[in-house]
Amino acid sequence: MKVPFYGHQRQYLSIKSEIDAKMQEVIMSGQYVQGPMLKAFEEELAAFAGAKHAIGVGNGTDALWLSFMALGLGEGDEVITNANTFFATAEAIWISGATAVLVDCDSQTKCIDPEAVRKAVTRRTRAIVPVHLYGQCAPMRALRQIADEFGLLIVEDNAQGIDARGDNFKIGELSDAVCTSFIIQKNLGTFGDGGAIWTNHTFVNDKVRKLRNHGSTKRDVHSPGFNSRLDDLHAGILSAKLKHISAWSERRMDIARQYTAGLKGCDFLDLPVVRPGYRHVFHLYEMETRNPADRNKLLDYLNKADIDAKTHYSIAIHQQEGFPWGKPARLAGPLANAEKNAASCLSLPMFPELTEDEIQYTIRTVCDWPKHK
Ligand SMILES: Cc1ncc(COP(=O)(O)O)c(C=O)c1O
Repeated sequence: MKVPFYGHQRQYLSIKSEIDAKMQEVIMSGQYVQGPMLKAFEEELAAFAGAKHAIGVGNGTDALWLSFMALGLGEGDEVITNANTFFATAEAIWISGATAVLVDCDSQTKCIDPEAVRKAVTRRTRAIVPVHLYGQCAPMRALRQIADEFGLLIVEDNAQGIDARGDNFKIGELSDAVCTSFIIQKNLGTFGDGGAIWTNHTFVNDKVRKLRNHGSTKRDVHSPGFNSRLDDLHAGILSAKLKHISAWSERRMDIARQYTAGLKGCDFLDLPVVRPGYRHVFHLYEMETRNPADRNKLLDYLNKADIDAKTHYSIAIHQQEGFPWGKPARLAGPLANAEKNAASCLSLPMFPELTEDEIQYTIRTVCDWPKHK
């Protein structure tokens, strides 16, 4: 049996008629850039998120730096984020001109550690960018408290957490802007690149709409901006998929429960930890080998057994070769949890269309590893 890491074609086939109808609608509308489908999808996304505004942009990285620019972040400003995140979170801070301040994660959930954030604040700090890593919300109430205490902005990097929730908060409720990615491998993904921002601030909405379209909201009237729009074809695909996102999240959570139940006896692994009351939507089922020296061996064994396990992310940002490439950066405090995570993380296949046989084969194969060590 071969267990893939992603199920893009399976998902397409499961709702083919709905996606095809949306694509036909866009093609026959004759409007493909900032057309009616983008407008409709932005309204659907805002309603889904419970936000006043949603703006489609080119990708999740652009969503981040466009929000930073709209909020006035730039040179000399310190922005605090996780050392253990996808590279784009820090990259977007650098694109805006600000200083990336990398802090440690919580040892259990791998989300940003609020105490590390508090210790990292200086008089130059302007914002916190928590990442809802692997599909679980960062502890937003604690972060909001710190932000209020020091007068900081919060931009949520929600590339991995669409449809997630905290115990007593929802995404977007406690921040200035939420950024998401629609690249195909995300829980809500299109057949290519895409991204969005949602916010309750009308000035952020207005600024991003202008910046994404060559500084223009009126024909022939410009100020310097960029080209970063979500194409209508992608908006149509995402509109069809958005109707299924909650059911897909439920299936991801069901698969995670099966993995956790099946692997709980494996004393060589630390399994994902879900904070009580949180809706962790398992963008990734990321576990750690207790002994970092085991990680590559287990990964290799699974790949040889035709299970496409991967790592997220095996080199922390500050450990990348050449860091920080002349960009403004500061490491705040020990990054021991992030470094341990990089050395020992391993992700099992996780997508809603996995079959029961594939799930059971994956569990059995992982459990059998000690015999093959
Ligand atoms: C946490 C995180 N932030 C930002 C991004 C950037 O999104 P994109 O690839 O759409 O630019 C991604 C995913 O790729 C991500 O996982």
